[in-house]
Amino acid sequence: FMEEQYTENFISATLHAMGGHLKRSTLVVGGDETKPFDGQKPGTSGLRKSTKVFMQTNYVENFVAAILGALGDSVKGCTLVVGGDGRFFVKEVAAKIIEMCAAYGVAKVIVGQDGILSTPAVSCLIRKYTTDGAIILTASHNPGGINGPAPEGVTNKIYELTKSITEYRICPNLKVDLAVTGLTNFTTDIGTFTVEVIDSVQDYMELMKEIFDFPKIAALLKGDDGRPKFNITVNSLHGVMGPYVRKIFCTELGMPENNAVKCDTLEDFGGGHPDPNLTYAKELVELMNTGEYDLGAAFDGDGDRNMILGKNGFFVSPCDSLAVLAANLECIPYFQRTGVKGFARSMPTSGAVDRVAVEKKMEMFEVPTGWKFFGNLMDAGRISLCGEESFGTGSDHIREKDGMWAVLAWLSIIAMRRQSVEDLMKKHWFNFGRNFFTRYDYENVETAPANQMMENLEVLLNDGSLIGKTFTQGNKEYVVAKADNFEYTDPIDGSISKKQGIRVIFEDGSRLVFRLSGTGSSGATIRMYVDSYENDRSLIECASQDMLLPLVAVGLEISQLPQLTGRTQPTVIT
Ligand code: G6P
Ligand code: ZN
Repeated sequence: FMEEQYTENFISATLHAMGGHLKRSTLVVGGDETKPFDGQKPGTSGLRKSTKVFMQTNYVENFVAAILGALGDSVKGCTLVVGGDGRFFVKEVAAKIIEMCAAYGVAKVIVGQDGILSTPAVSCLIRKYTTDGAIILTASHNPGGINGPAPEGVTNKIYELTKSITEYRICPNLKVDLAVTGLTNFTTDIGTFTVEVIDSVQDYMELMKEIFDFPKIAALLKGDDGRPKFNITVNSLHGVMGPYVRKIFCTELGMPENNAVKCDTLEDFGGGHPDPNLTYAKELVELMNTGEYDLGAAFDGDGDRNMILGKNGFFVSPCDSLAVLAANLECIPYFQRTGVKGFARSMPTSGAVDRVAVEKKMEMFEVPTGWKFFGNLMDAGRISLCGEESFGTGSDHIREKDGMWAVLAWLSIIAMRRQSVEDLMKKHWFNFGRNFFTRYDYENVETAPANQMMENLEVLLNDGSLIGKTFTQGNKEYVVAKADNFEYTDPIDGSISKKQGIRVIFEDGSRLVFRLSGTGSSGATIRMYVDSYENDRSLIECASQDMLLPLVAVGLEISQLPQLTGRTQPTVIT
């Protein structure tokens, strides 16, 4: 035993066998000089820049130093989760973050295997292991605070630090193989440091099993419940959800392997745009049009968004999806246990769910766009379910929207109600009336005309000239009843968010909303939302694009969008 390294080797082997690796070397904490970069200001949803920008020397280091620095003294001994959607550069950045965490006195980093974690899985881990926060590497979502997206107080502090940074700390000799799960312990100049590489899916799957009745959903998919097999297909658009879909839908619930489409996580997402809507998930729409499948679903790059289609490509608008879930939550074991609290939606989302809230006598909240606004309501126990028109649906099981949760929720309802997607939807419209809804997106518009358009609208609001004005389109007349720029006072902490979108509300309750997207990565994206309620049963099955055409024309007239931007067609219609 006294031979050099004899004991060390044996202990190391023993710890290794227990799932851990002991690195004997003391990590040296080093410092590197740096200079500030302009514009490292996290928006509503994190620091959104192109990968190229992140690849500049010290760009990531500066920002990570600012994040860790903004934690102040609480960085010492804290535990953080790190993971991303698998896109190009995620693995490199994850490794860099680990090297820096060690140097700033973080006690432990929990990281997904190969750096892979979906955004909902990150939220699940933060809560399950009560970690102090997370850094999420995705273009679709933001660095998280304790319970969800970092609050503005934190992101402002980070931004301040990015402006004055001169040095960052790092342990460059720290090496962990992110491909291998297990614990690695290090000793550093300033203490100890642990990296735990975990299976990307396991914890999230356990949570889903607590929420849903897996055997019942499996029986539905396999046709073991006396009905024909309910055939589903799921498309991950080559984003982070591939491994989740294979393990949960295929292995656990019996979906045939071939029905998992684009489930290899690729660094370039296969050249596609991983956004589950009718334009970017066209392949799913075409597959569903064959009539072979009863339900089709797609997720975005980091797995928090979802799109649901029924047989023959029947499209479920995210606003309707939210309303149907609200009306049927009692089909899900989790809500049978917790009871249903209130509902919430973002302001541009149609009012379909409001009607369910009225019928069920539930509290209903209308918040600005951005998932973080739901978090406070959940923490205060006021809501169980929330959603947005932008293909986000979720509940208080975590603090992010959750694409797979939404699909499992639909399957639970279908298993219980024994109805097709289309029948469920149509029955819902029959009971509640229908909020026809569409969103026109004009992507990559020049910033100046986009801002001009919003300013002009603001002037119209302020001089009162819109109120009472009649717009005629074909045989339809719309009279403006109210127009404002949406302002929200958080009922929990009293904080006020101003200018969250221009609303024009007509006498018949129809609404037009104009916003500039807060998540685009180049130029400006103008969003025009159109929402119109219909309870004439003979009209509720009409195509929404036809029904909304006159109101769309009114929106273009009021905003002068084509004249100002030179755009005659939107880039995406949802
Ligand atoms: C992200 C946010 C959502 C938001 C969506 C669109 O997914 O988490 O809350 O609805 O982006 O935001 P935008 O500002 O682009 O309309
Ligand atoms: Zn996302």
